[in-house]
Amino acid sequence: MFVSSSFMAFVYILTSVLFILSIRGLSSPKTARKANLLGIFAMFLVLAVTFFSPDMKDFVWPLIVLFLGAILGSYMAIKVKMTALPQMVALFNGLGGLSAVFIALSEILHHQNTPIETSLGMIIGALAFSGSMIAFAKLQGLISPKALGFKYLHSLNLILAVVLIGVCVAFCLNKNLSLFYALAALSLILGFLLVLPIGGANMPVIISVLNAYSGWAAVGIGFSLNNVLLIIVGAIVGASGAILSYIMVKAMNRSLWHVMSGGMNEKKESGSQNVANHNQTAKVGSPEDAAFIMENSSKVIIVPGYGMAVAQAQHVLRTMAKDLAEKFGVEVKFAIHPVAGRMPGHMNVLLAEANVDYEDVFEMDAINHEFETADVAFVIGANDVTNPLAKTDASSPIFGMPVLEVGKAKTVFFVKRSLNSGYSGVDNPLFYADNTLMLYGDAKQVTEQIVSVLEQK
Ligand code: TAP
Repeated sequence: MFVSSSFMAFVYILTSVLFILSIRGLSSPKTARKANLLGIFAMFLVLAVTFFSPDMKDFVWPLIVLFLGAILGSYMAIKVKMTALPQMVALFNGLGGLSAVFIALSEILHHQNTPIETSLGMIIGALAFSGSMIAFAKLQGLISPKALGFKYLHSLNLILAVVLIGVCVAFCLNKNLSLFYALAALSLILGFLLVLPIGGANMPVIISVLNAYSGWAAVGIGFSLNNVLLIIVGAIVGASGAILSYIMVKAMNRSLWHVMSGGMNEKKESGSQNVANHNQTAKVGSPEDAAFIMENSSKVIIVPGYGMAVAQAQHVLRTMAKDLAEKFGVEVKFAIHPVAGRMPGHMNVLLAEANVDYEDVFEMDAINHEFETADVAFVIGANDVTNPLAKTDASSPIFGMPVLEVGKAKTVFFVKRSLNSGYSGVDNPLFYADNTLMLYGDAKQVTEQIVSVLEQK
């Protein structure tokens, strides 16, 4: 039993609207859960109707692949640790790109009606695939997360891009299959070489750029398959990925061109970053000191970072904030840096999971001016996002990134296990500042100790 093409068109329009509403809902933590369900429902609807479309020639293989994909995807989503989500996003972006490559290949082998759209979809898909695999390997620690490359890499990339355009034009003119394969190989190599030199602080941006690539690849493939839904959904993914990239580069004071061109001006991540003076000693505090100083404060600003996610300290952190507010009348706020953690919104998701009130959570720009009136900045598992060298050391890879100005608070607590640097490998001179006390240990354990002191009072 097949559905009519007008019914298919109706479902496509309906699901496009559902996808748009879903993306809109994802922009706020309050509506994100429902929005996610809406997106899942829309995807289910579109898959179901596709199975009854007149174009459906074979049911067995698509069902097998769908079943295996669903099992594998669900397993990965259940098993993945919150801290490894960026790798998973990179992997899924890459798989989206790879499917665009395969669909393009199948189109070229069977129809060859739309060489321009198909080759564009394939090129962007291949770039997204190989670029995402490198991003995955860097984030997973399979290769060094630092900027990798060689002397003439950017010139080579430029030459490859020019050759790629030439081959693409030649293919569109004479539809020679060998040219299509050459195009695929060149795109894969270029994607690989573009992401290789991107390191440290620029990684979050490249993930969302690759996300946008996978959306634009779907648009190209949508045109070649004449599939309206693919065009609309691809454009939504492409545009939202591009907007997110723009927001992130703005937050990190980078230019989008700089990141998209493969870190053309990436600062060298060696040498001058270890500027903190190890002859200086960092003062060490205890959970009792922290509890005493915070309970006697008027205002405490909590700055969570990647280490809070690793330790899963968000629940006990919420208890600490609640105790301080309810038992001791302290004003407690949370300050979130746009690239804290390892993915956009990482801290917001964790704090929401722990039921921290949205009203108490502030983005960097809204709270930075409050550190000078705060008694305590409680920095838990954060490092790079507080590093003042981002303002003062032009040779540092994080130079130019706006940071949370925690040093302006009367007392700064850093909860971490050592004086080690964070993701970008840059030492943090704040550890040695006069008003800083280090609280060494796992973020969850240290906070539990503070809570137990507070609750004994
Ligand atoms: P980081 O600068 O990476 O610092 C995290 C700190 O947490 C480390 O210095 C580590 O110090 C500490 N830590 C690790 N495990 C811990 C545990 N169990 N308990 C206590 N502390 C622990 O994190 P950040 O300040 O959140 O900055 C994020 C960085 O990641 C930025 O450089 C950003 O560019 C990059 N990045 C961000 C994203 C996105 S989109 N957010 C994606 C990729 C990369 P010890 O080893 O001494 O404990």
